Parts: sequence; C-alpha cells; structure tokens
Amino acid sequence: MTDARSLTNIRMMKAKEKRETINILGIETSCDETAAAVVADGRVVKSSIVASQTKLHEKYGGVVPEIASRAHIEKIYPVITEAMEQAGVGKDDIDAIAVANQPGLTIALIIGVTAAKTLSLTWDKPLIAINHLHAHLQSAMLDERNLQHRQVSCGLPAVALIVSGGHTCLYDYHSPLEPRLLGSTIDDAAGEAFDKVANILRLPYPGGPSIEEIAKNGNLNAIKFPRSMLGRDSLDFSFSGIKTAVLYYCRGQDMKGEDKVDSMSEQEIADIAASFQAAIIDVLVKKTQRAAKKIDAKTILLGGGVAANSHLRDALQKMCDNTIPPEKLLVAPKQYCTDNAVMVASLGYHKFKAKLFADLTLEPKASG
Ligand code: KG4
Ligand code: ZN
Repeated sequence: MTDARSLTNIRMMKAKEKRETINILGIETSCDETAAAVVADGRVVKSSIVASQTKLHEKYGGVVPEIASRAHIEKIYPVITEAMEQAGVGKDDIDAIAVANQPGLTIALIIGVTAAKTLSLTWDKPLIAINHLHAHLQSAMLDERNLQHRQVSCGLPAVALIVSGGHTCLYDYHSPLEPRLLGSTIDDAAGEAFDKVANILRLPYPGGPSIEEIAKNGNLNAIKFPRSMLGRDSLDFSFSGIKTAVLYYCRGQDMKGEDKVDSMSEQEIADIAASFQAAIIDVLVKKTQRAAKKIDAKTILLGGGVAANSHLRDALQKMCDNTIPPEKLLVAPKQYCTDNAVMVASLGYHKFKAKLFADLTLEPKASG
C-alpha cells in the first residue's frame, strides 16, 4: 500500500513534470480578514483577494470573535473562487494549499483550516500548515527592492520585527523555515496599543491608520510619554503602560476627573497622537537595534499591520543607514503588511520545497 508521504511525493513529481512553476493557493482567516491568494515560486503574486471585516467590528472598537467567524463562513468560498479566477488558474494548476492554522482566534482559524482540508482532499493536493507570524515575516521578502534583483534571499543573519494587532515579536532569522523568537510583548501588542489609544481619543477603528493620519498635524515632542525598555538587555516589549499614560493624561491621575477628550481641540488630540506614536516607534526601533547588535545582523526585516506606518518604516531605514556597516532594510509592501494570503502562499512555497506537509488531522491553534 502507498503511504501518505509517497503519495505526496508522486503528486509533487507530477506537478514538476507538467511545468516549472510552483503555484501555491494560500488561505488566511486568523482574525478579521478573509483572504486567498495564488503565488508562483514564492514571489510572483498571481492574485490576492482580501475581504475585510473592519466595518462589522468598527462599532465595537475591536474584533468580536463570533462576528468574525460568521463573516469568514460567508466569505471563504467567494474569496477563494475569486483568487483562482483572478490568477487565471484551475485546480490542476495548483501544487499545494497552504493555510494559516496558528496563532489567532480559534473560531476564525477553523474556517480557513476546514476549507483548506476540504480542497486538499477533493483536489488531491498536499496541505501545508502555516504559522501566521512567520508568514508576516516572509512578507518582508516581497519588498520591491528585493524582487527587483530577482532574489527572495537576504543577507543573513537577519533580525525580523513583526508588529501586528495581536503580536509584537523580534526574531533571529536564518531561514524562512526556522525563525527563532528573541523577544515578544509581555502585555499589549503595538497594534493593540494603537487601537486602544485611538479609542480613548475617539478616533475611528482600526486605530493605527487613524493615529498616523491625525499625528501628521501634531507635535511629537508635546507630551513625554513613557518608553518602557524593561531593563538594559531585554528584547521583550511592554505597551500597556503607555496606553494607561494616555488615559491618565486625558482623565487625570485619579481617573476621577472628567474625560477631557470631548473638549479638546483638534490640535491637542493631534499632539497626543503624535507624541504617543513617537514613543511607540522609539521603543520598537531601539529594541530592534538591540537585537541586531546581539546577533550581528546584516538585514532587518519588518512586517505586520503596524509596519504600514510610514514613520516606523522611515525610522528603521534611518537606523539601518546609520549602522556601520549599514544594515539592509526589507519591508513588506504596504498591501501585504495587514493580514493577507500572499504571505501565507509565499511561505507555503518554502515548506513545499522542504516537503513539510500537514495531513487532514490539522487543527487550528490559538497560540503559536
Ligand atoms: O497584521 P494585522 O492586519 O492583524 C493582526 O495579525 O493582528 O494588524 C492589524 C493592526 C491593527 O492593530 C492596526 O491598528 C495596525 O495593525 N495598523 C497600523 C497601521 N495600519 C494598521 N498601526 C500603525 N500605523 C498604521 N498605519
Ligand atoms: Zn496578522
């Protein structure tokens, strides 16, 4: 009898005989975006479809898991169909199905995982399990400056900073398959802090883009918010203190005074936003620099939703330029900073090449 591994090998060989290109269908449902994409050879994006649920969660100021799950159920089939159509491919052109199965909201992840398992079974294609955070990291490899040179590699070792709504992590990156965690947040993630502070300032959800926009008119030195470094050597992050500092600033130290936000001028709000944003970026850059020194990094990688922030991108570029010898910065293109399936399919390609396949017992996992 042929076992699952040799069946997979036969399928891979058949795929290679037909054509040189490896096409991976990626599926992403870890939080509030239903996404599917077809990517060739890990770097040529043939299609990318993202159905965002921002409007559904806006009035709650954050993601409601049950609402997210229901929306994924409604969108998953149309989103996958559209991704295949936009790429101009049929099931015979797909070599494997990669799906984010961790970390994330379990009741959201399970929709993508179930869809991927179903397609794997019915289309007879290998299944690949993807860590959502490692996929964010992989998205930095899609930096246009990198692709122009027809390379998806970078100078190693690299330090990767992944900043999203749920995570803030630093990795030691030697290969796409084995990033090593150097540090992470001990409380709020950077994106979560942006979202909560935007909520305090009555700015629209998601908070990151709203704060970046209003901060353009603000003075970043107006208020000295705390920069928590957690000691001289730590590579971990803590952002709950700065969120509380903004709250105290708006409501008074004893929290008994009236909330001043409604009576603040637009300039005052802009000053708070700019000062808050500067403090967060300061910590992110200093910790990345610390990690880079520690492992003697040649490249800095930046990914995750908060990586869409232009000030963070500029500050890290400046840091890299001022390092001797200069480190190279690779940043995820803006459309692949927030959750998407291109990054899932791109990492899926590397796992495909390494023959790292999952089977139909694959389950979603909240942590990872
Ligand atoms: O990676 P992502 O789409 O979802 C998670 O995996 O969490 O990240 C979403 C986060 C949100 O917290 C959002 O406020 C933040 O990314 N974000 C930004 C910006 N755009 C999105 N934060 C700061 N500046 C931005 N321009
Ligand atoms: Zn994410």
